[in-house]
Amino acid sequence: MLKPVPSSFRQRNRASEAHMLRTLNTFAVDLMSIPCVEDLFWYVAQNVVGKLGFMDCVIYQADEVQTKLTQVAAWGEKNPYGRNIINPLVIPFGRGITGQVAQSRKPIIVDDLVGDENYIPDSEPARSEICVPLICGGRVMGVIDSEHPDIEAFGEPELEILSTVAAMTSAKLELLAETERSQERYEDLVAVHTQLTKETSTRKVLEAKLFESRKQEAIGRLTGRFAHEFNNLLTVISGNIELLALDAPDTGSLDTLQDAKTASARGAQLIRDMLAFAQRTRLTPETVDLNRLVSAFGEDCEQSLARPVERHLANDLWPVAADPAAVENMLLALALNGIEAMPNGGSLKIATENVFHTLPEGQHFPSELTPGRYVRLSVSDQGTGIGRDQLLQIFDPFFTTKGVGEGTGLGLSMVLGVMRQSGGTVAVTSEVGQGSSFELYFPAAPCGTELPSEDQ
Ligand SMILES: Nc1ncnc2c1ncn2[C@@H]1O[C@H](COP(=O)(O)OP(=O)(O)OP(=O)(O)O)[C@@H](O)[C@H]1O
Ligand SMILES: [Mg+2]
Repeated sequence: MLKPVPSSFRQRNRASEAHMLRTLNTFAVDLMSIPCVEDLFWYVAQNVVGKLGFMDCVIYQADEVQTKLTQVAAWGEKNPYGRNIINPLVIPFGRGITGQVAQSRKPIIVDDLVGDENYIPDSEPARSEICVPLICGGRVMGVIDSEHPDIEAFGEPELEILSTVAAMTSAKLELLAETERSQERYEDLVAVHTQLTKETSTRKVLEAKLFESRKQEAIGRLTGRFAHEFNNLLTVISGNIELLALDAPDTGSLDTLQDAKTASARGAQLIRDMLAFAQRTRLTPETVDLNRLVSAFGEDCEQSLARPVERHLANDLWPVAADPAAVENMLLALALNGIEAMPNGGSLKIATENVFHTLPEGQHFPSELTPGRYVRLSVSDQGTGIGRDQLLQIFDPFFTTKGVGEGTGLGLSMVLGVMRQSGGTVAVTSEVGQGSSFELYFPAAPCGTELPSEDQ
């Protein structure tokens, strides 16, 4: 029931149609930069009143299942609360003027609300009303509604303006929905990509670990067999040297045989280190106090190597089951490495500590301990440090950066083999130019284990 309404609107519109078009143009431009649906509704409500001269404007949003409308924005005398709605009205589709517009998807103008059965009166009674639907992608997204205290306040021009605003709002709603969908798709893609990257890098780490343990196992088997064969040969050679020495005709020959003996003793030491790496060394574990071993070793080391050795020994250190001679060998190998890494001087630090299993996965090499109580014995230097690539190789038998004849490359492999054979492991942290720290992890003896007395 549309009637021509010679209201203030129409007088103003006639006088300034060009102005209205410019206003709608500004409206459209403003809409472009609105970032979300809530801002959009409030902008439209505010500017239907402010820019387009309507007395009030209420916007209702339809729900997903197209059964009810909820008031989401209101501007004008009816809403004195600014951008805030207290007790938003909820209207079922089909009920009242707004509900009918939502259901029929067609605009409605009511010239006189008095006596109109569809009018839902509220705190500010009105005489006429205009309501247009917001349609987007074939669905009703809501309605824009405006009331006026005079009868016959709305006519064709107002309908045209409000329908234009509704069309612009609907287009913007569609754009926002599409932006949200694209954002969701983008986030899904990012999530899938992140998951894939994570899986790939986890797989790479696992593959590297598997490769490392297979490599160690293969080298261990090879080294063990080689050491075994070589030991048999060496036993024959040393036996023959002993026999020859018994019948040596002169001291010259004896000196030569002595050189041969020294060389075979060196060969025997190499074999012991190789067997140690292959975890086939003969260990005689006993309950020991590592503090006591470190103190004695530190004193010897300071005297024989003329280097200061700082000792940081933990109180109440847990006893461990270890072969004292093997521990001394390992300390010597690590101390020598540390001193060799500090050609310009510097002190060596040996520390002991009780630790619960705290080896952070991937930060140390090798990382293989089961959770439990351990005693950590660390030997640290302030030397050259070890580069990342070399860190993966230093435990390999025969890996050395020393010149030919200067190093066997068996020191650290022996340490790793003995520690593994003792139920522990060795880890290293190193920074090029800052120094290195080798940490031996010994499983602590069961609680209540007594240490043998000092003089034993
Ligand atoms: N504390 C350290 N600082 C810097 N580099 C080290 C340190 N300890 C070991 N390395 C590196 O690891 C390599 C292997 O050490 P390892 O003790 O197994 O053999 P080596 O010291 O070369 O030979 P050997 O022990 O027979 O004298 C060394 O050549 C060195 O490059
Ligand atoms: Mg060494």
